[in-house]
Amino acid sequence: MRIVLLGPPGSGKGTQANIICEKYNLPHISTGDIFRYNIANQTELGKKVKSYIDSGSLVPDEVTIEIVKDRLMQDDCKVGFVLDGFPRNLEQSKALDLFANIDKAIMIDLDDDEIVRRLSGRRMCRKCGNPTHLDWLVNNKCEKCGGDVYVRDDDKEDVVRARLEKQKLPQNVIDFYRDKGIFERVEADETKDKTFVKVDRILSKLA
Ligand code: AP5
Ligand code: MG
Repeated sequence: MRIVLLGPPGSGKGTQANIICEKYNLPHISTGDIFRYNIANQTELGKKVKSYIDSGSLVPDEVTIEIVKDRLMQDDCKVGFVLDGFPRNLEQSKALDLFANIDKAIMIDLDDDEIVRRLSGRRMCRKCGNPTHLDWLVNNKCEKCGGDVYVRDDDKEDVVRARLEKQKLPQNVIDFYRDKGIFERVEADETKDKTFVKVDRILSKLA
């Protein structure tokens, strides 16, 4: 199963990707997580992408595409994968098409006001990487594994606004997958479990 999750920043792509990967035993490939890992470890890649992420802009395609291409060539992706946050523009969509056959492109969609509400309370778990929320923490720890949580640098209100403005999913990406007959849109305005039921209705036809 080769899935891409599209959608605006903060709509719940990472949350849904985690649930899908757990159920179907697939690798979860998040370009955002790869960039944050490299920034935290001060690698050359991290130094290259930090300013883009801090300002809420997209990292240049030539950097992002190479990373995804290399990652998809690793052995664990032979069984399939869930790509979370890639592609984000037509150039990335066309490039991906050259090195992977995607089964479904699912847009996890949500309106801007709810995105801002969710991101202002988001906490990331240091231990399991789960995106969680202030409302769900247990004793200020991740509700899933008990790990410590932190606030992502790009969840500051001004950067969230910049991401929403600069990173709307372009219509030509939707059209690209619609023309292939593999595009689906899921409204993510319900709980994560109810949203997953809708996502899984699509996936179970592929499994
Ligand atoms: P990335 O990390 O992908 O950030 P993003 O696209 O802004 O998306 P988020 O991770 O913020 O949100 P999400 O949709 O995963 O939502 P989540 O599940 O966490 O990318 C970071 C940066 O890297 C980008 O800004 C860009 O600079 C760069 N980048 C990445 N990919 C790139 C690419 N392809 N090209 C160029 N540059 C790229 O959920 C959000 C919150 O809501 C959480 O608190 C969660 O607990 C909560 N929540 C989730 N579901 C529900 C629900 N159903 N009900 C209530 N709360 C919920
Ligand atoms: Mg995410």
